[in-house]
Amino acid sequence: MPTAQSIHSHTPDLAPLEAVTTPVESDVVVIGIAADADGGKDADPVVVAPGLSDTAVAALSAAGRAVGAPTAVGSITRLPAPEGVPGDSVVLVGLGTAGDDLSDESLRRAAGAAARSCRGRGSALVLLDRDRPGAVALGAGLGSFRPAKVTGKDDDEAADSLRILVSEGSGDAVARATAIAECVGLARDLVNTPPNLLFPGSFADRAAGLAREAGLEVEVLDESALADGGYGGILAVGGGSSRGPRLVRLTHRGADGRPRVALVGKGVTFDTGGISIKPAAGMEQMTMDMGGAAAVVATVILAARLDLDLTVVATVPMAENMPSSTAYRPGDVLTMYGGTTVEVQNTDAEGRLILADAIVRACEDSPSHLIDTATLTGAQMVALGKKSPGVMGTEDFRDRVAELSRAVGEGGWPMPLPEELRDGLDSEVADLTHVTPHRWGGMLSAGLFLSEFVAEGVEWAHIDVAGPAYNDGGPEGYLPKGGTGVPVRTMLAVLEDIASAD
Ligand code: BES
Ligand code: MN
Ligand code: ZN
Repeated sequence: MPTAQSIHSHTPDLAPLEAVTTPVESDVVVIGIAADADGGKDADPVVVAPGLSDTAVAALSAAGRAVGAPTAVGSITRLPAPEGVPGDSVVLVGLGTAGDDLSDESLRRAAGAAARSCRGRGSALVLLDRDRPGAVALGAGLGSFRPAKVTGKDDDEAADSLRILVSEGSGDAVARATAIAECVGLARDLVNTPPNLLFPGSFADRAAGLAREAGLEVEVLDESALADGGYGGILAVGGGSSRGPRLVRLTHRGADGRPRVALVGKGVTFDTGGISIKPAAGMEQMTMDMGGAAAVVATVILAARLDLDLTVVATVPMAENMPSSTAYRPGDVLTMYGGTTVEVQNTDAEGRLILADAIVRACEDSPSHLIDTATLTGAQMVALGKKSPGVMGTEDFRDRVAELSRAVGEGGWPMPLPEELRDGLDSEVADLTHVTPHRWGGMLSAGLFLSEFVAEGVEWAHIDVAGPAYNDGGPEGYLPKGGTGVPVRTMLAVLEDIASAD
């Protein structure tokens, strides 16, 4: 576990994944259990254990029934291993109702819950679905993640050690799942790092170091470079903090002529609201207000690790939104990067200001597509809840992003940018203001504000992950408490889709 000093070199705490040809001996064997829809309420449950003998399956089914093992997706029951099972103990994980189609997402959730329950138990052979090793491995990998703790005590990694064994011949799906789980784990760790340890300068250093290791091109603009460049939004939002803002640019370069995709992520390392200060209750959660930036950094590194055949440029603004005598004020008029002027109404609507500068910069590279993501509005949660990111943007690309997001289990949903809300962003003293005079459609008006900064002709999607980036409930399926890593897998899916279409 990381100490306060080592947290910036900590790698995500994940159980390693190994491809094996089954059956192979392990400490724990993870086996599926499903309700028998036809057999009535007293029927034995259906055991899903590809490769095990009929007698072992029958013994497991009887044992599952005797202890009343639940079958809801991801529910966990531990049993001693009966004869014919290649391990000391069994974890029965619920797979829902037998005969119903088990979606990839349900399979990932079940594998994730099982892997989490196996931490500290040596090795776990996951026997759920031989034909979908990718979903099994990814779910188990993501579910095995343990949030880091800042501790002054010695490391005790062994106490929670685990190797996850997945049946697969080639090992390709397991290798891919490993890369994805590690990068999602990186995004989660960044989100979970407390705001005294992760601030714009340290976040930029960490992102730059990781990116260099992955072979990316790196550029970091510090406060004076931002001033020289005229990044009025980032400078205003970051100006209240003694720990100055940054703009980090990370490039994964594909071959000449390949598509170019821009990624932009909100990196507010702590959001007090600034002079328009937030209430104390719940303010500690605003350590997650760099979830968009974490996801973007993790995604461009993942693009390099998977060697995607396109160019991906991440443009990541980082700032701490603090009240002080140097803070920006309601009433200020900012000159943004690119020259648009913005009247500030509420310093707590800071995310869209740093994103606007970054979007203008990103568009200078003439990308074909731009995805920005941010923990942008409380209104996202009012509209869609904690688990469905709101996706706005140019219509076709917006719909494509939302659909791919649901396919990977991240739940994105398309939302409009209604014309009638646009008037609310008119200002009498500047080109624009950044908040409307009413509270209706708060997620959408933030999207409309951003749309003013996207260059003509760029296919654009804005993903508001205010709720989905952070799980303030308990662990569930493959999701831990705290940072979730959403929307890394959505962005990966979109990058792969663009790379394969062009
Ligand atoms: N970072 C917040 C949005 C947020 C709220 C994220 C709760 C996650 C959980 C953002 O900077 C913010 O404060 N937005 C304001 C905008 C308002 C002042 C127009 C909001 O949503 O209340
Ligand atoms: Mn805010
Ligand atoms: Zn914020």
